[in-house]
Amino acid sequence: MRLDVLTLFPEMFAGYLGGSLLKRAIERGLVEVRLYNIRDWATDKHKTVDDRPFGGGPGMVLKVDTVVPCVEEVRRQGADPGHLVMLTPQGRRLDQAVVEQLAARERIVLLCGRYEGFDERIRLLLEPDEISIGDFVLNGGEVAAMAIIDAVIRLVPDVLGDAQSSQVDSFSGGQPRLEFAQYTRPRVYRELEVPPVLLGGNHEEIACWRQQNSKRRTRLRRADLL
Ligand code: ADE
Repeated sequence: MRLDVLTLFPEMFAGYLGGSLLKRAIERGLVEVRLYNIRDWATDKHKTVDDRPFGGGPGMVLKVDTVVPCVEEVRRQGADPGHLVMLTPQGRRLDQAVVEQLAARERIVLLCGRYEGFDERIRLLLEPDEISIGDFVLNGGEVAAMAIIDAVIRLVPDVLGDAQSSQVDSFSGGQPRLEFAQYTRPRVYRELEVPPVLLGGNHEEIACWRQQNSKRRTRLRRADLL
């Protein structure tokens, strides 16, 4: 899978890309990430990427004549122009079903905004898949892009060490459920004991306990999922 990130702050991704799971996936050639600085497409000598909104008001707006050529040129690189995602609080809400749709793509181009937003004509001309990671406003799309990359690469075949571990995650599969409670050693800590069924080695009983635990948690914490 190829991921192209278009941002005014490519340096924000350095630490994240160097992190263990993604770093290994990149080294193994399973995932390729390319960063582009939108500012490189600015046309004036001051490298201006934003301007004051027509009609007045606070903040700055990303310029259509910088962002559109940037996206078009990046998409022309490679045979597949890729699926264009714009990170914005106005987009459709990210959930595991959206992550699964994105993971099916060969190439995703992630467009990160800053300031007050994008000139509306960027939307009209590029018709991106607008995605929000939640009903709150971030300072820009970069953290949202990292959230998408993080969730998507888990579903790329062979990225996870244990082939099963993305299957039991909360929200994966047809019926979204919270994951069951997990325990590891020690068996007792500050008088809190691991449920005995998990120590018994009876796989059927363990599966049954986990299913019930998962259902109960979902009912108590996220009834909206049921
Ligand atoms: N940019 C600013 N806020 C955002 C959000 N909630 N989701 C995606 N991109 C954003």
